[in-house]
Amino acid sequence: MNLASIQAAESKLLLNTYERNPYLFVSGKGVFLEDEKGDQYLDLLSGIGVSALGYGHPAIDEAIARQSARLLHTSNLFFHQGTAELALRLTEISGMDRVFFCNSGTEAWEAALKLARAHATRSRENGKHIGTKFLAMEHSFHGRTMGSVATTHKEKYRLPFAPVMPDVEFVRFNDVADLRAKFSDDVCGICLEPLQGEGGIHPVSKEFFGAARELCDSTGALLLADEIQSGLGRTGRWFAYQHYGIQPDVTTLAKPIAGGIPMGAMLCVERAASAFTPGMHGTTFGGGPLACAVAIAVIDTMQRENMLTHIEEVGGLFKARLNNLKEQHDAVTEVRGMGLMLGIELNSAELAKTVAAQMMERHIIINRTSETVLRFLPPYILEKEHVDTAVDALNEILKANTELAGVTPAGEKVHG
Ligand SMILES: Cc1ncc(COP(=O)(O)O)c(C=O)c1O
Repeated sequence: MNLASIQAAESKLLLNTYERNPYLFVSGKGVFLEDEKGDQYLDLLSGIGVSALGYGHPAIDEAIARQSARLLHTSNLFFHQGTAELALRLTEISGMDRVFFCNSGTEAWEAALKLARAHATRSRENGKHIGTKFLAMEHSFHGRTMGSVATTHKEKYRLPFAPVMPDVEFVRFNDVADLRAKFSDDVCGICLEPLQGEGGIHPVSKEFFGAARELCDSTGALLLADEIQSGLGRTGRWFAYQHYGIQPDVTTLAKPIAGGIPMGAMLCVERAASAFTPGMHGTTFGGGPLACAVAIAVIDTMQRENMLTHIEEVGGLFKARLNNLKEQHDAVTEVRGMGLMLGIELNSAELAKTVAAQMMERHIIINRTSETVLRFLPPYILEKEHVDTAVDALNEILKANTELAGVTPAGEKVHG
């Protein structure tokens, strides 16, 4: 089937949940995707932060081939060789004690929410009051299932499905006074992304993160850090919370963990983990042999190739070049992010839409989030020359679209 016939068939057969871009990718190598005509695209999005080692990485190909030839699935009723090996690696790099494996980001987040409620229930049973309420952040995104949407701020994702999980209150992100005012022993968990992704690449402030930690410690509530987008090396550390020196009680991972094979994980400290007993939570597919084998290969490759240092270096260079772009274009109002999770804020949603589309026409894949933010989540194997190609293209596109920005490149107002 060609692109046109796929588009026609999908429009009749699939639920209308995505407005796909009209491109058909058939293969990939390194940081490039190839379409059905054989054209190459520099991928600075990596399937929304998933294909962290790029495409066709030999370590991933080898792990898939080896494991699929041996065993794909056993269910969680039996042991297999991958789960403990992977959990050992994950607990070592995270400072957590235990892991629950699942299949996606939203499932990992659901597990985190359920754990916080179970921890609070157990605490009440033991005579210490911890309520059932969650504090979640404005501009947060945690996924699409009922608990995840309940803690996701955007109403568009939540209201059509009301009533979603009850007992969630939103706090202004990085507003310590608002957090303190809304916190009490009725709260079982404070939910935050240390670096908000879908919300527009906004880092938590050290003061706010510290206050959340202190408040949870004061009552025994759990601090839940969603690292589904920022975790497993994306920001130059294994976890974004490690930039702050603050250890949450629970964290969640998914996107890059198994290099493109679906997998999620909820990691937690012992004090929280013991709230789950057999039968309270589970999954048929979670932590299967294939996903575990690939995730082990991803982590081992990252360690062997010293990728955290590489991410920090290339990410630092990328951010410096974006800041340079900001100096040249008043339409760029802010550059944010850490490592290879970066965003630039533009002064108009129309401009951001145009720039993303024109980058695509130049065969460079980026993404617009939160209306005015251009987001970059490239594979970790990105090199300086790719950064140069992308930023040079952005520069030319911004120059060519000064009318939309309402400013000249030098900053003089064009209209009004
Ligand atoms: C921070 C965060 N949490 C949760 C999710 C949901 O993950 P999934 O789409 O795998 O369910 C995402 C996805 O973008 C995310 O960025």
